[in-house]
Amino acid sequence: MRRYAAADPKGLEPEIGYHLRREWLGRGYAAEAVAACRDFGLGSLGFGRIVSIVSPENVPSLRVAARIHQRWETYRTVTAAGAEVDRFLFISERDAGEPIGPLQNAEIRVAMVEADALLIMRRREMES
Ligand SMILES: CC(C)(COP(=O)(O)OP(=O)(O)OC[C@H]1O[C@@H](n2cnc3c(N)ncnc32)[C@H](O)[C@@H]1OP(=O)(O)O)[C@@H](O)C(=O)NCCC(=O)NCCS
Repeated sequence: MRRYAAADPKGLEPEIGYHLRREWLGRGYAAEAVAACRDFGLGSLGFGRIVSIVSPENVPSLRVAARIHQRWETYRTVTAAGAEVDRFLFISERDAGEPIGPLQNAEIRVAMVEADALLIMRRREMES
């Protein structure tokens, strides 16, 4: 867990990022580790809100974040290199009304995020 994310729509805030070595992919370890970081951050560390930022093209990461975070928003930003890009901001909040721990309907959220990502990429294609 990084102390602060790169600038997102609310400025700097705690972010969970993740990266697995190839030999550990596809076993659920990322989702398990991200859930533990979320619970630790919102619980022991006392953060009110923790985010993950994901590109619409990064389907494996979208699927992990959709399973773990409570909700998501999308936004458009400009990278340090000057490129305009779309991003998902996944959000978990301590006082969101959902208990910390396993969330309901994870696979439905995964499907919704994938559909949102497809729409964003289609919009991009139409704009270019
Ligand atoms: C993002 C990343 C960590 C995701 O890795 P991953 O292996 O897909 O994620 P998990 O460890 O949670 O594994 C979940 C997958 O394992 C499968 N799986 C197999 N056995 C499982 C089990 N016992 N329990 C849970 N999931 C299991 C799941 O079905 C799931 O696959 P699906 O998403 O196709 O349905 C990995 O792609 C990565 O390191 N990418 C490069 C870095 C990166 O992009 N980081 C994110 C930047 S925003």
